[in-house]
Amino acid sequence: MTLADLDNLDAAGQIKALKQKLAPQQAAPKSAFADVTDHMRRAADAIRADQAAERPVVPEIAYSDIAAGTVNEETRAAIRRTGCAIIRQVYPESLATDCAYLETNRYEEREVEKRSLDQYFSSLAAGRPQIFNVYWSKPQVNARQGETIATTRSFLDRLWKYEGVFDPDRQCTYADRVRRRQPGDTTLGLSPHMDAGTIERWIDPGYQSVYEAVFAGDWRSYDPFDGTHRLKTREIPSPAIASAFRTYQGWTALTRQGPTDGTLRLVPVAAGISYVLLRALQDDVAEDDLCGAEPGRAFGVDAAWHPEMMACQVSIPEVRPGDTVWWHTDICHAVADEHAGSEYASVIYIGSTPACPKNLSYLPGQKEAFVAGRSAPDFAPMDFEVDFVGRATEADLTELGRCQMGLLCAPPLVRIAEDDRPRHDATALLPRDIGGGGDAKRRRRGRCRAPNSIAQPSMTTGAAA
Ligand SMILES: [Fe+2]
Repeated sequence: MTLADLDNLDAAGQIKALKQKLAPQQAAPKSAFADVTDHMRRAADAIRADQAAERPVVPEIAYSDIAAGTVNEETRAAIRRTGCAIIRQVYPESLATDCAYLETNRYEEREVEKRSLDQYFSSLAAGRPQIFNVYWSKPQVNARQGETIATTRSFLDRLWKYEGVFDPDRQCTYADRVRRRQPGDTTLGLSPHMDAGTIERWIDPGYQSVYEAVFAGDWRSYDPFDGTHRLKTREIPSPAIASAFRTYQGWTALTRQGPTDGTLRLVPVAAGISYVLLRALQDDVAEDDLCGAEPGRAFGVDAAWHPEMMACQVSIPEVRPGDTVWWHTDICHAVADEHAGSEYASVIYIGSTPACPKNLSYLPGQKEAFVAGRSAPDFAPMDFEVDFVGRATEADLTELGRCQMGLLCAPPLVRIAEDDRPRHDATALLPRDIGGGGDAKRRRRGRCRAPNSIAQPSMTTGAAA
């Protein structure tokens, strides 16, 4: 399906067909929804109790504990239960906050001219966030290819059941944008939503496999961290809906930002997706509707349909430059409506896209965009950076960065039987021991050894972008 096909998508017909297909087992979704609603209420109570006792609601880990291999099982279980984590000091705090790249290249003036192209956020009630459509500044490229963030992603991806699906120790670059929110801003928040698709979570056969237990009413046996069917999903194309498989979305803080600084809010309940899926199958939702989910738009979650989920929403705690935040691909999140602080709240979006056929097939198009300075393929084609001064080039990539970008190991084109689109034979590039145990760092470096002279990514110039 292409963007042009979106107009021809019979969303209402497919939603009706799904509900008719599930009708014979209607009792199961009803009782399951009652159960998962109770689970959400209990989760909200537990969150309030943790907050009252000043216990962290979002699990927090020092990067040094990941590097030392000393993260305990209790913390790992907390990440699986909440679907999110804050990993502190992945980069040293000596990051600057100026934005020379954006300002030198007159980004804001140019954006006004091109704004109408970005339809993605237009359906979100709080309006358009202060997100900058740049992908290839040196701070972004350096932050993505850092050794420490690679180790962080390896740790997080190993919390998944990944055997035979993806390699938790090898990343594919997935270039994303920058948020730089002005102090005092009251209009550019981002309403609660989930990434990675809207109605396809119900109607796409791949997603139906992922959520099979939920639709069967057995939501407690659904494991959000089971990757088995995740590569089968087919998202409806839309600017900013990832066609790559992200185990986590995430960002790296460039500035200090706390709960009042217009920053990230999360629903730290991994089971929340079951609640949303089952909510749309209840009798008070029209047979051609899924609680307002629309193809090709942001997948909003709201208080009218999902009050128990909204009650679980929390702001992340204060983070410092170099701290990172991660949330599972099904976790509901938002950006607070008001930035009541006095400093810019700036982040570089860096999620986790481990090596797998789906993600490796994204690399050739992204590589062309990188070389030309165009927007990354999944995003609105604003192409701001084609003539930007100071853009990263191939010379700025480390050996690890080149490998993650697909420059060291270009995959050959093959065709996959299940659909006839050209794909890249990524499986041929996966390590033979994919899915096996072993030391993450050793295996990653075994393929893409970074020379000793590579320094920590420097964000001392153009730090916000
Ligand atoms: Fe999002």
